[in-house]
Parts: sequence; structure tokens; C-alpha cells
Amino acid sequence: MSPNVKFEVVNFGEAERRLAAAPAEGERPITLIAFVGAKLALGGETSTILRDAEPQIARAAAAAKFAGKRGTSLDLYAPAGLDGVGRLLMIGVGPAGDGDNGGASPERFDDYLGLGGQLAARLGQGANAIALFDVPEPPADASAAAGQLALGATLRAYKFDLYRTKKKKDDPEREGASEIALAVAEPEAARAAVDGALGLAEGVVIARDLVNEPANVLYPEEFARRAAKLADLGVEVEILDVPTLQTLGFRALLGVGQGSAHPSRVVVLRWNGAAPDTQPVAFVGKGVCFDTGGISIKPAASMEDMKGDMAGAAAVTGLMHALAVRKAKANVIGVLGLVENMPSGEAQRPGDIVTSLSGQTIEIINTDAEGRLVLADALWYVKDKFKPAFIIDLATLTGAILVALGQEHAGLFSNNDELAGRILEAGKATGEKLWRLPMGPAYDKLIESKFADMKNTGGRHAGSITAAQFLERFVDKTPWAHLDIAGTGMGSPASDTNQSWASGWGVRLLDRLVKDCYESA
Ligand code: BES
Ligand code: MN
Ligand code: ZN
Repeated sequence: MSPNVKFEVVNFGEAERRLAAAPAEGERPITLIAFVGAKLALGGETSTILRDAEPQIARAAAAAKFAGKRGTSLDLYAPAGLDGVGRLLMIGVGPAGDGDNGGASPERFDDYLGLGGQLAARLGQGANAIALFDVPEPPADASAAAGQLALGATLRAYKFDLYRTKKKKDDPEREGASEIALAVAEPEAARAAVDGALGLAEGVVIARDLVNEPANVLYPEEFARRAAKLADLGVEVEILDVPTLQTLGFRALLGVGQGSAHPSRVVVLRWNGAAPDTQPVAFVGKGVCFDTGGISIKPAASMEDMKGDMAGAAAVTGLMHALAVRKAKANVIGVLGLVENMPSGEAQRPGDIVTSLSGQTIEIINTDAEGRLVLADALWYVKDKFKPAFIIDLATLTGAILVALGQEHAGLFSNNDELAGRILEAGKATGEKLWRLPMGPAYDKLIESKFADMKNTGGRHAGSITAAQFLERFVDKTPWAHLDIAGTGMGSPASDTNQSWASGWGVRLLDRLVKDCYESA
């Protein structure tokens, strides 16, 4: 859905000019946003603009026990000396604890991401705001921080309420998007960073929308149609339908979808941002539009959540959008394996043996271990056809990853330490965190089958690892990483930057990975 907050970047002179001019007839009064450090420390520009209001601010802050701590804010209406300003919103950027370190500002960029989220939450909808991006102790790269702030605010303002017919009071469609003029010292650089951040925000929003959509709306063909819109940004889009997949030999993937009234699809997305001879990198997403479990049917409790079993494919789609918007200087392949896992008279059975695209045979023990079957063919296809420098797959693959890591970290599995290290770094930089889990021959043994080359489940123990061992058999020697996002992609706890069920997890992480490690200068 469209962003609920709009950013414009101006310099401090322009901000002062707008503040001095009384709002025209019918125009919304201005909300002025100021960042406040410990002991009510203000940046230089902010202090000048607020000089006439300082005594009033000091009294209000004392009365409200507002000391500029992170996570707190203070509202002051009709501040003295600022006739055009209806509301002064002061946001704390001081240390969050009781420690007194003299108004230090947040240092890491993801702090600015969270700060942007807090800002959007406090601001609400329908505001006409000027934000003075002038923290008491400025960050090393103020423009990048401004971009993170805008990203955080945009993501926080995201709502998925397409299917509510009665709009709530804070609904953006009732009150309109908030408009924020971000006043900075170096508008040109900040504008570039904010624009970049907004392309990334769109990517995250695309992923969230796809995950939030119900499966009666978003089935494989519809997902493919939506992904095909990336063509407008210059992404090459190829959609493989069932006859094509049959001819190519995607029997593992097709076996999962064969019980559904909705035909399966594979979407191949290509962003060619580098020289044609540059080896591409590849992302593969599990796109099970609904996972009933198939004949090994799931219990009823929370089965509705399985509309989100395509969060991996959604993240790949959002990532490709973000890369295309910023014209990333890399060749990137995105592959979406789109199926619906249903029980029916035509559904796959436990005991069935399928021959995958790789030629390896798989005995189906449990039809609910379907994601790995979809990925097996998608991984082999991308490895074989594009010979990428690496493959990263994203999948809501196992409930066991929730048992192991909860919703804080995604599971990381890899056959390559350098790639794994880079992903972990990007995770730290973006706050989309991962925890690497072990792999090895002893785990691999657990998926040996009595009848075929392998079976699709490994028993009760180490469920997330045996799933990863299964996938590894379909990448050959290609550097590969598997991100199990069953805990992070959906059912997300509310945070500064997300209030929605879907998180869009992975878009920011992988955009960062590509930017830091795989773009030509
Ligand atoms: N889509 C599920 C995994 C899942 C569970 C995602 C909870 C999000 C939240 C996956 O297809 C699945 O059913 N996995 C089984 C594997 C088992 C049958 C080996 C599981 O985790 O129980
Ligand atoms: Mn399943
Ligand atoms: Zn699944």
C-alpha cells in the first residue's frame, strides 16, 4: 500500500522561512519536530529556532519529567515565538538508561532507523511537519542517518488495512499521509540518501503486502502477476507455467502443487545493473502461497498463518524492487518458487517418490515438508542456468527454527564461511539479525532414504538443520546460504519500525549485502 508519510529535504534556512510565514488560510498548522538530548540539550540550529520557547520548554519538561531520554517524547502546543507552529514535538535522543553522559546521540544507523519509527508513531497521521535533523551530537554520516530516519518513519507508518470497510480514526485514508520536511545541513547529500531509503522502504512494503495478503487473493498466478510489475523498473521477468515446468523437469516442485486448484508458477527476475560479463548473484524464495500441510495435514490452530509461507519469495520480490529503484551496479537473479500445498484427490502422498530437476530422487515422508521440495528444483535451476557467484535462499522452512531461535534471529546455514560472514555483518548493520547453525555429514545422514536418494524429513531431532542438509544437496559447490525465516518473516512482534503482522524481513539485509560486497564501483 502507498506510504503513509512523505518526505521532503530542505536546508535550515528554508525551514526557518516556512516557520516564519504564518500558514495560509485552510492550511494545516505546522508540527515542529525537535530532537533533544540528555538534560534537554539541543543542536545549534534547533536552539536558535526555539530560543523564545526555551523557558516554556524547560517548565513543560520539568512538569512532564521529560529529560530527553531515548524512547520518550514531549508535546508542547502553541510554543512561544513560533506563530505558525501548532505543536512542538520533542523527541528524546539522549541515553536510554539512567547513565548521564552529557547528551550523547545515538551512534549506529539502526538507531536512526528506530528513531524514525518513534517519530512517525508520535507524529501520527495527517500532519504537516518540519523536522530539524540537528541532534546534539551529530552522527559521523548525517546524510546516511537522515536516510535511515526516513526509512524508519516510512516503515513504522505502514498499515495493511485493505480489507477493513470501516476506517478507523487513525487511518491514513481518513486523515491523509503526514508530510515531513526534513531540515538538514547538507540537503543534496541527504536528499540522495532519503530517496535511496524510500526505494528500499517500497521494497519492504511490497514484501509486507505480499505476506499480509490472504491466500484466496494471492495464489501463485496472482503472485507472479504482481512480481511481473517489476518490469516497469527495467527488471527482466520470465514466468514459467506448469507445462514449461513439466518439460524442464521441475517434478519436486510440481509434486507439491499438484493437489491445488491453483497451478504452480516459477518466476525468474533479472536485474542487469553491471557489465554483461559480470557473474550474477542469485536469490531464491520459498513461495508457498498457502501451506495446509497437504495430506500430512496441519492441525487447525493457527493454520491461517500459513498464508505467510511465501515470505521468502516476498522478500526476494521486494529486494529486486529496491535494487532496481537504486539501479544497483550488480547482476542479480531472483527466483520465486510459487505453489499452494493442498490435500485433494490429486495431492501427493507420503511414500511417493519424485525425481527432482537435478535427477536425484526424493521419497516423500511428510507432505508438510514441502518448502524444501520447492527449493530443491529452484536452487538447481538457478545454479545450472546462471552459474551465480552465490545463491542465498530465504524460506519460512521449519517450525523448529522458532523453537531454537524465537523471533529475534533468523537461522543461517551455509557451505561457505566468507559468504556466511558477510551475511552476518549485514545483519548487524541492519538489525535483521541471524544466528549460524552447524551443518555436516552426521546431520546429512539423517535424510538417507530406504528407497530413494534421500527423504524429505529427518525425524524429530535438529529439524532446521536436516532441512538445510536437504537443500545443500541441490547447490553442488556453489557458495550458498539458506536463511530460515519462519520466525522472523511473519507473526512479527510490534517494534519501532513495524506494527504489521508481516515484517518484510530480509529486504534491508540483502540490499545491504549487495551494496557492501557485490557492487562494482
Ligand atoms: N511452512 C512450514 C514451517 C513454518 C512453521 C513456518 C511455522 C512458519 C511458522 C513448513 O512447510 C513445515 O510445515 N515444516 C514442517 C517440517 C516437518 C514436517 C519436517 C515443520 O516445521 O513442522
Ligand atoms: Mn509445510
Ligand atoms: Zn511450508
